[in-house]
Amino acid sequence: MPNATVLVVDDEALIRWSLTERLKSEGYNVLEAETGRAALERVGEGVDLVLLDYRLPDTDGVSVLRKIKEMDQDILVILLTAYATVETAVEAMKLGAYHVANKPFNLDEVSALVERALETTRLRREVRQFRTSAARPYSLQRIVGASAPVTALRHLVARVAISPSSTVLLTGESGTGKDLVAKVIHYTSDRAARPFMNITCSALPEQLLESELFGHERGAFTDARMQKKGLLETADGGTVFLDEIGEMTPALQAKLLRFLEEKSFKRVGGATDIHVDVRVIAASNRNLEEEVGKSQFRSDLYYRLNVLPITMPSLRSHAEDIPLLVEYFIDGFNVEFRKKVLGATPAAYAVLQQYGWPGNVRELRNVLERAMLLSDHDRLDAKDFAALSRPVTAGDEFELPAKGVDLEQLERSLLVQALKRSGGNQTRAGALLGLNRDQIRYRIEKFALTTAP
Ligand SMILES: Nc1ncnc2c1ncn2[C@@H]1O[C@H](COP(=O)(O)OP(=O)(O)OP(=O)(O)O)[C@@H](O)[C@H]1O
Ligand SMILES: [Mg+2]
Repeated sequence: MPNATVLVVDDEALIRWSLTERLKSEGYNVLEAETGRAALERVGEGVDLVLLDYRLPDTDGVSVLRKIKEMDQDILVILLTAYATVETAVEAMKLGAYHVANKPFNLDEVSALVERALETTRLRREVRQFRTSAARPYSLQRIVGASAPVTALRHLVARVAISPSSTVLLTGESGTGKDLVAKVIHYTSDRAARPFMNITCSALPEQLLESELFGHERGAFTDARMQKKGLLETADGGTVFLDEIGEMTPALQAKLLRFLEEKSFKRVGGATDIHVDVRVIAASNRNLEEEVGKSQFRSDLYYRLNVLPITMPSLRSHAEDIPLLVEYFIDGFNVEFRKKVLGATPAAYAVLQQYGWPGNVRELRNVLERAMLLSDHDRLDAKDFAALSRPVTAGDEFELPAKGVDLEQLERSLLVQALKRSGGNQTRAGALLGLNRDQIRYRIEKFALTTAP
């Protein structure tokens, strides 16, 4: 590997000199250290491989090895020793030494060993780079929108991604992009090369969820024929995304809290503590604070999860982003469906803007997918979205119930719903009810709706 830096650690000047001369002649940058302490200082400056003598004036090679690996797992260490007992060799390998070689050594052998070791790092880096580039679709730009709420969201996500391991709590309605944001956080953080694991807490019964998360030992329960690692273990170094956290049972909530506090856990049926380094991102489309109030969710877990809260804006609250999102999805579906749709007409945008989007961006995406599949014009038109704009008219679905209605109550309720759906925007709320802004204002006063709901 050209430009690789090798550190030679030995207290004997002659050995250092012979190794250094040889490695330099092969094009490596070579650093030297006489003691364990000096070696660790040099490692801090950035090295790729360490040739490490076992017997050092201030310490032994195995202790130095352990510290190097704590500083950076990727640094290759070849231990050179004249006193190799089997135990030392085994321990060194366990700590992650690349090789344990005997002293005295043959320079050709050492040089071949160094070359091979560096080749493995090069490959490992390539794989990692490949993984990060495969992950690139989840860059910050994947969060589309120019409105104030989405711009603020992107900034927050960027800041959260660089915070090393704090827990993140994503709350927001269904379809607002919680999954998306969780992935963007992971893939723009320096955990990107490690796994992103995802589990939906509502999808599994308690016992299964527990063993999926924490793993289990052989024989822990009837079906546990083999030991199994849980998600937290598999994701070591990476991120675990716990979706629909509000659905977790109280017993599991307690176990999760313990894990978040201690960063360690036991497999189901296990006795040993397993330490892992994962970032937990939890998501909920319920209001967890309310669940805490109703004693459905542990308050201590809530506060532990809520270190970095992110509230996802509903699409209603940033309807001005609809054109950008529409273009973004059209581009994507053009590729996927081999179509050449150029955009949408102003009339189509008008329909899309006045609709309330209870299913948020996911619903917008689905509506566009259907329109793109069915339409054969250059531009999507209002009639491609007819299902969204069809107002309820007399004699339609809106039939007077047998026992009648309280018209005043109904009017108030529809007004409140329209305002909610339009995020308080009176013009858009009016469009939903066939009223102009003045007529909406008049009714807001009439029903004493002082603030927009
Ligand atoms: N701001 C955005 N920019 C681009 N795509 C988005 C945005 N928000 C959401 N999406 C897309 O909308 C779809 C739904 O988003 P996602 O699955 O992340 O929602 P969610 O909040 O996890 O919903 P649920 O609560 O139902 O699980 C996805 O295809 C996602 O990529
Ligand atoms: Mg989701």
